[in-house]
Amino acid sequence: MKNVTLITGATSGLGLAYAKEYAKKGYNLIITGRREDKIKANAINIENMYNVKVKAVIVDLANAEGVNFLLNEIRDDEIEVLINNAGFGLKPLFSEVPQEDMERIIFLQINAVVILSQYILKQMLVRNRGTMINISSEGAFAVMPRNILYSSTKLFILNFTEGLYMELIDSAIRVQVVCPGFIDSDFHESAGMNVVKKKTGFMKFMDPDKIVQLAMRDLKKGRVVSLPGLDVKIIQIMQKFLPRNTLYKIIIDFTRKRNKKLHR
Ligand SMILES: NC(=O)c1ccc[n+]([C@@H]2O[C@H](COP(=O)([O-])OP(=O)(O)OC[C@H]3O[C@@H](n4cnc5c(N)ncnc54)[C@H](OP(=O)(O)O)[C@@H]3O)[C@@H](O)[C@H]2O)c1
Repeated sequence: MKNVTLITGATSGLGLAYAKEYAKKGYNLIITGRREDKIKANAINIENMYNVKVKAVIVDLANAEGVNFLLNEIRDDEIEVLINNAGFGLKPLFSEVPQEDMERIIFLQINAVVILSQYILKQMLVRNRGTMINISSEGAFAVMPRNILYSSTKLFILNFTEGLYMELIDSAIRVQVVCPGFIDSDFHESAGMNVVKKKTGFMKFMDPDKIVQLAMRDLKKGRVVSLPGLDVKIIQIMQKFLPRNTLYKIIIDFTRKRNKKLHR
């Protein structure tokens, strides 16, 4: 397929919102996910709504076999836009995370991102065009207790993308990292987190479509780091300017208020 946007994790939430956005722009899509019924239904709906071709790849990207499978599936496609979006959170304290889950989150949110990015970047460099959007999180600015592996992988994604931006400065390839706050998606349920999704006030849950809209506006303006929402912007400023101990205290208080124990 030509003129393709590849989105990892487009079964629900932000990935699905990006899929609709790029289909609306006339791109053909390759979308991935593990929930077969949902990803296939998304592909059919988007094809019907926007008159583009959509290929659904059912794949678990938290291991090497899955990533290699996807690379093989896309070998004949001309990818113009890559959106590294697939991700998940973990609920337990670090000391209680099973080894398999530690390996999976690091693979999905670091290894899969770099392997896919390099593979597609090589094609983009030949054509000297393309866009890469990597989804990080506000967790990259404020590591959250009980989700420290998640926040740490998201910090990697932020750093990785800013580095790529500088390496690619003399090319026509655009790079962006999006750092959302809370999203109203399947994320928290999938991680077994019991949260109230408040829709107003500080740290509210934002609609995925709204995040995509803000991030696309930033992309147009050439902003490498997109902070969609006031909350994330405040958190980034706090991270930059507050003394570390004050920052820790704020995060610890916030975590305790959400009734989360910080030790067994
Ligand atoms: N929700 C938040 O509050 C929040 C905040 C900041 C950043 N983010 C980031 O935003 C991105 C999208 O999350 P979301 O909020 O839209 O959550 P979501 O609705 O749960 O979407 C996550 C997507 O990732 C896919 N995925 C998860 N594990 C996967 C695996 N092992 N292999 C392949 N695909 C996998 C899921 O598909 P399947 O389940 O079908 O595999 C799903 O399509 C993630 O990178 C997340 O870290 C989320």
